[in-house]
Amino acid sequence: MTENKTFELSNGRGGGSQLPVRSGTMGPAAIDIAGLHKDLEVFTYDPGFGATAATESRITYIDGDAGVLLYRGYPIEQLAQKSSFMEVAYLLLLGELPSQKQLEEFSGNIRYHTMINESLLRFFNAFNHNAHPMAMVSGVVASMAAFYHETMDIHNPRHREIFSHRIIAKIPTIAAAAHKHSLGQPFIYPLNKLGYAENVLNMLFAVPCEEYQVDPIAAKALDLLFVLHADHEQNASTSTVRLAGSTGANPYAAISAGVSALWGPAHGGANEAVLAMLEQIGTVENIPQYLAMAKDKSSHFRLMGFGHRVYKNFDPRATIIREMCHKVLAQLGRSDNPLLELALRLEEIALKDEYFIARKLYPNVDFYSGVIYSAIGIPRSMFTVMFAIARTVGWVAHWQEMISDPAMRIGRPRQLYTGATKREYIQVDMR
Ligand code: ACO
Repeated sequence: MTENKTFELSNGRGGGSQLPVRSGTMGPAAIDIAGLHKDLEVFTYDPGFGATAATESRITYIDGDAGVLLYRGYPIEQLAQKSSFMEVAYLLLLGELPSQKQLEEFSGNIRYHTMINESLLRFFNAFNHNAHPMAMVSGVVASMAAFYHETMDIHNPRHREIFSHRIIAKIPTIAAAAHKHSLGQPFIYPLNKLGYAENVLNMLFAVPCEEYQVDPIAAKALDLLFVLHADHEQNASTSTVRLAGSTGANPYAAISAGVSALWGPAHGGANEAVLAMLEQIGTVENIPQYLAMAKDKSSHFRLMGFGHRVYKNFDPRATIIREMCHKVLAQLGRSDNPLLELALRLEEIALKDEYFIARKLYPNVDFYSGVIYSAIGIPRSMFTVMFAIARTVGWVAHWQEMISDPAMRIGRPRQLYTGATKREYIQVDMR
């Protein structure tokens, strides 16, 4: 980060503040307002953080107007085409692409940690069979802190590394256990001869009484979806992980907070909501009626999978997934997919609509992901859990980056108070 200019702000009463302007390696510069309150006794006001950079970061870069997404400088299109989720995980966590030997060692470390403690596994019995898997996953992830307290010194780099391997390795096992619990089926243990995505599919779909072969097309598609969802700079769940982690809370608690934030339909929960919406719309003839509802400000209905805080042109991940849908469905012999047809028509109609054009609303990463999850047999309630598996890598990378920064401070926003002014307490019998 370099400081090359200052920005001068005056309060109109003779007071002024010289604020440094900080430039990163790419993207807009940021005015450093840390001295503003001391100099002028004012705060900045930015609900939703639309214009606030909360941190420096070297992990992921987005140019929302140009539809650019880079992980550690590498374009998402190249990573989607040539890389794998394990390689991307290494890249996001450690900053560089691994050599073959480094990749094998890293994947080996992840494989080594895939099993979960049997006591932790028994937690699932306490949940209702109809509990949402995200509720189970966030609870069980937070409970991991009760099992690994001897390696939770956040200031110890080796402890942080062990935590990283553990959580990335175990989150699929926890996710699959939640799914099996919902079905009332026996839990399937991880198989360390399988790759990361293969293991997810095996744990989700195998049963002890039959041979199960992971479909390589499904495994490849899932691995690619994991690559696309692995990180997205300071989104709501990552910011939640950073904020929770900034208190010095244990990392399992911070990741669990991220899982909870991801669940909301405005964020990762959108993938589940898109499929529900497509099923609700049902046929192409009904699209105008639902578009009208999405535009109606008195209705809470929004076109799920549309719009993004940062992308104002197109979401490059959505472009990749849309193409991928055609390929994967053809490979799986399911080209005739009414949900995909409906999604394509909905996109086409919405993109010609003045309301969506004026507000720069385009399909986001989750408009098409559910079509692929469904095609490979993953139930709707597990879509956001799949997102959480992938995003765990990004959360861990950001948590590591924050904790290893000597300048880390607790995250503590200020407010514009609009409540009652000071008043005297009145005894209850006098009110
Ligand atoms: N359908 C209809 N109108 C929309 C939509 C939508 N999906 N998204 C935004 N708008 C409208 C808003 O009503 C607002 O209109 P106005 O200016 O007339 O008041 C305008 O577009 C700007 O919207 P904001 O809500 O201010 O945009 P914000 O950046 O705060 O929200 C968000 C972004 C949450 C993604 C929003 O577009 C949305 O709710 N989309 C649907 C949910 C979704 O797909 N979320 C997944 C995002 S990607 C991810 O997190 C993985």
